[in-house]
Amino acid sequence: MESSHHTILSLFTFLVLTTQWKASSASSDDFLQCLATNSNESKPQVYIPNNPSYLTILQSSINNLRFAMPETPKPQFIITPDHDSQVQAVVVCSKKYGLNIKVRSGGHDFEGLSYTSNVSFVLIDLINLRAIDVDVKDNSAWVQAGATLGEVYYRVAERSPVHGFPAGGCPTVGHISGGGFGPMVRKYGMSADHVLDARLINTKGEILNRETMGEDLFWAIRGGGVSSFGVLLAWKIKLVPVPPIVTVCVVAKTLEQGATDVVHKWQSVASYGVPKEIFIGLHVGVVNKNSNATSGGVGRTVQATFQVLFLGPTENLVYVMDKSFPELGMERKDCTKMSWVESTVRFAGFPSGTPVDILLNRSALPKTTFKAKSDFVTEPIPKSGLEGIWKRFLKEERPEMVIGVWGGKVNEIADDKIAFPHRAGNMYLIDHVINWDGKEGPEASKKHIAWIRELHEYMTPYVSKSPRTAFLNYKDLDLGRIGASTYSDPKIWGEMYFKSNFKRLVKVKSMVDPDNFFSSEQNIPPTMTY
Ligand SMILES: Cc1cc2nc3c(=O)[nH]c(=O)nc-3n(C[C@H](O)[C@H](O)[C@H](O)COP(=O)(O)OP(=O)(O)OC[C@H]3O[C@@H](n4cnc5c(N)ncnc54)[C@H](O)[C@@H]3O)c2cc1C
Ligand SMILES: *[C@@H]1O[C@H](CO)[C@@H](O)[C@H](O)[C@H]1NC(C)=O
Ligand SMILES: *[C@@H]1O[C@H](CO)[C@@H](O)[C@H](O)[C@H]1NC(C)=O
Ligand SMILES: *[C@@H]1O[C@H](CO)[C@@H](O)[C@H](O)[C@H]1NC(C)=O
Ligand SMILES: *[C@@H]1O[C@H](CO)[C@@H](O)[C@H](O)[C@H]1NC(C)=O
Repeated sequence: MESSHHTILSLFTFLVLTTQWKASSASSDDFLQCLATNSNESKPQVYIPNNPSYLTILQSSINNLRFAMPETPKPQFIITPDHDSQVQAVVVCSKKYGLNIKVRSGGHDFEGLSYTSNVSFVLIDLINLRAIDVDVKDNSAWVQAGATLGEVYYRVAERSPVHGFPAGGCPTVGHISGGGFGPMVRKYGMSADHVLDARLINTKGEILNRETMGEDLFWAIRGGGVSSFGVLLAWKIKLVPVPPIVTVCVVAKTLEQGATDVVHKWQSVASYGVPKEIFIGLHVGVVNKNSNATSGGVGRTVQATFQVLFLGPTENLVYVMDKSFPELGMERKDCTKMSWVESTVRFAGFPSGTPVDILLNRSALPKTTFKAKSDFVTEPIPKSGLEGIWKRFLKEERPEMVIGVWGGKVNEIADDKIAFPHRAGNMYLIDHVINWDGKEGPEASKKHIAWIRELHEYMTPYVSKSPRTAFLNYKDLDLGRIGASTYSDPKIWGEMYFKSNFKRLVKVKSMVDPDNFFSSEQNIPPTMTY
């Protein structure tokens, strides 16, 4: 972050400025006085809406441009602590003056819940708390909450070519709290399965670790969404072994090239038909039928792109794929050998050959305006079902399906081992996404959102049932809403995200935060009637 370009208000100037602002918010002064009293000599940087840097800081890690609109509700204060004690002070003072807190790590929340809200709130942006301390001998690392996954991958690889961390394609570390998966999910399970310890601020502003928080709370924050329980300062993660050279292959098929048959077959191979060292991820989108002006192809088509990671040598992979999945027609020329860290660059969506230090750049990937939903699939979708998806895709400009493959280790762990529950029986996880250009205006937004809701409705017979499940990291505020009502039923979304772990999460919440201080649009409620 180019903090030198930002004019940072010291708390002192800030107090002077706010005297002109007093009339509109009497309690602000008290809150700021409280921060000054509770912070020691180093005070946190605070930005108010009329600070020239306020918008730059706010927008710096807004990932979904749907919530970067002038009318998006914005924080009363943005605070960018550079020491844990400053975060403690914000918690203590927000509680004292009844202000809601939103904490932002990577800003990738699908519904913008780390930086917008319908209630007045304080934004704690952890951008300056991003140290990563790798201990190769111990196979572990302490990672501050503001660090991105890209930074974790880079720092781990810098210390060792045979250590890695099983987490997602897109560089965000906040995702551990919702489970977190990536191309090593079949080999090693979820990111949250690799948490050894944590530093968490509770409602009293105290810093807890695994021992002092106790096993119930430590269970809850691994997959239950940490924002219901406190402010996470850092995770201690367990590193996993990776080979010095891995293989990445990419094969794309359009409908004309038989995509429907290949995707149909993929379903019975990817989860249970290949070793867990092989991950055959799938991305489905819409492309122009033929970019060759001369060959006369016109119109658009659906394209399925298979992205393979193999934790081993290319020869073995090509052999296995040829035996188990000949329909894909994958050849050696589709594959590249690289280091594990280079594979994370590829899976993040950068072109082949991009230098690994791109992992340190928070703004390297383009952002869009989007709405997303998730589904877990437990049995193969028939071809007719797939064709119905394609038909819907062709009615939109930029629809996507990003699919993560289950099976292997992630399915072997018990549903209640940690709060993340989606294990045995799941074949794959779909991230349904519709992207558009925010400049199209509110009517267009409504149309795109209606499209993805209809797609979700259409998927009902083909996906998990009783309950139909959803992935917390793909947050969806539609879940639990009855019709057009803004009320959402926690029991409905609670069971979709957490299955039967929801009950225990409510119990933990009632023990550690009975007054629901750490609240947001979809937080674990402290009480629940069944
Ligand atoms: C492009 C893209 C790709 C993705 N790919 C994957 C993937 O491959 N695998 C996967 O598992 N997920 C993936 N996700 C989902 C991602 O893991 C979640 O959106 C995750 O919550 C993002 O974490 P963050 O820190 O960036 O989000 P933020 O928006 O900062 O936070 C998410 C939520 O956690 C809360 N929170 C954040 N930090 C803290 C903290 N320190 N203490 C308490 N509460 C906190 C926020 O208030 C908010 O409610 C992807 C998301 C996007 C946008
Ligand atoms: C005060 O802040 C400094 C760093 O800014 C920190 O090292 C110290 O622990 C803090 N003291 C207290 C009492 O929080
Ligand atoms: C805020 O309220 C609006 C209007 O009711 C709603 O559309 C939006 O989803 C709400 N936002 C959040 C974060 O709940
Ligand atoms: C363009 O045409 C050539 C020759 O006909 C063909 O080999 C190639 O696959 C075509 N490209 C696309 C994108 O269809
Ligand atoms: C990060 O990536 C963006 C987009 O490609 C680029 O404009 C910017 O210069 C990069 N920043 C750094 C520090 O390399």
